[in-house]
Amino acid sequence: MTEKSDTSTGTGRNDPFWNSVASFGLDDIFVLPEWISELKGVKTTSVAVEESGSISLELTALTQRVGDCRGCRLCEERNTIVFGGGNPSAGIVFIGEGPGANEDIQGVPFVGRAGKLLDRILAAINLDRDSAFITNIVKCRPPGNRTPSKDEVAACWWILEEQIRIMQPGVIVALGAPASRAITGSSEGIGKLRGRIHRYGDIPVIPTYHPAALLRTDALRRPVWNDMKMLRQLLDELGLPRTGKE
Ligand code: URA
Repeated sequence: MTEKSDTSTGTGRNDPFWNSVASFGLDDIFVLPEWISELKGVKTTSVAVEESGSISLELTALTQRVGDCRGCRLCEERNTIVFGGGNPSAGIVFIGEGPGANEDIQGVPFVGRAGKLLDRILAAINLDRDSAFITNIVKCRPPGNRTPSKDEVAACWWILEEQIRIMQPGVIVALGAPASRAITGSSEGIGKLRGRIHRYGDIPVIPTYHPAALLRTDALRRPVWNDMKMLRQLLDELGLPRTGKE
């Protein structure tokens, strides 16, 4: 067990959180100016966690079990199985839809335009890829970036289930309708699912719009921001992210 105490309150321009928000630049900013004042008092907390390499080891064993998966037609055109990226010990898991063209080549989730926006959304609530794990409901690229079909999601589901069992996150964030429906088991639209906390077993689930939808529709920024504030409050209540290094 190691001591990890990092309780900070963002109160001014020397605060790293404030700087990260302000550094986006006003032309390209994801957060609206009024969000910054809402967040100036944001408190971030963290808890000590048991040091252990077992999460990484178990995830590596899982990738070996998946091997050169031929479980559905997505294997035919994929270059890389994209399992996920970030910190699997952090206790926060973001789940998107499926790898796009860049992700399929690089083997890392959310590296394209939507991924850059996701990084800014994370930064706005004082998270980054060292304090969250990011994955998708399907691990292989649907050709042409189409929405994965129900049978493709079903064929890949055991991998996500295993990832969640291994990582034991304290919170899951579902990005977009396919991920939100799959993880909540609901058939409702994302507009109905978002704005409240669901459960996957005992784990709280926050559905929100997919960053790619935000790139197309400015009006979705405010509801996403409201969801992210709800997430930040929940993280603080639960003492997440966990800060132990494996
Ligand atoms: N969109 C997703 O849903 N996942 C990715 O990994 C990239 C883009």
